[in-house]
Amino acid sequence: MAIKKIITYPNPVLRKKVEPVTTFDESLQELAQDLIETMYAAPGAGLAANQIGVSLSIVVINDSKGEDEKKPLVLVNPEIIEKGERQVDEEGCLSVIDLTAKVERYRKLLVRAQDLYGKTCEFPAEDFFARVIQHELDHLNGILFIDRLSPLKRTLYKKRLKKILQAQEEGAL
Ligand code: NI
Repeated sequence: MAIKKIITYPNPVLRKKVEPVTTFDESLQELAQDLIETMYAAPGAGLAANQIGVSLSIVVINDSKGEDEKKPLVLVNPEIIEKGERQVDEEGCLSVIDLTAKVERYRKLLVRAQDLYGKTCEFPAEDFFARVIQHELDHLNGILFIDRLSPLKRTLYKKRLKKILQAQEEGAL
């Protein structure tokens, strides 16, 4: 178990669509543990495997609802099978530094996923929980939340990020 480095935009690794999980073995459980530890250390509301450079369909979500107790949820090969109503709310991403923005998402979902042993389950999700699931599933498809912003907002962010990265580089010299 280890805290992994989170890959950030514009690294092309984040753009590659992941492969489905077909082997439910010990290494999958280790990957899930790494994802959970990395998510809590960040801290973040969710994390997809390709954000730590593993091209597999698995995400973890912090389902603690603000309680002290940690309740990580692991979703393997997740898919959205029903969706309804739309809602706009603020979103950020561990892989997109220094940006939060309003994004439209479905407010209600029915989700199908497997657990770490390959067992399939279906469950409903609403509001923030539904938002996190949609955000993480986007990651698995190589999509980032900035792709869902207006072209103007995206261009402004890219310009600002360039300056941030330049400043970081100069600071490192
Ligand atoms: Ni993200």
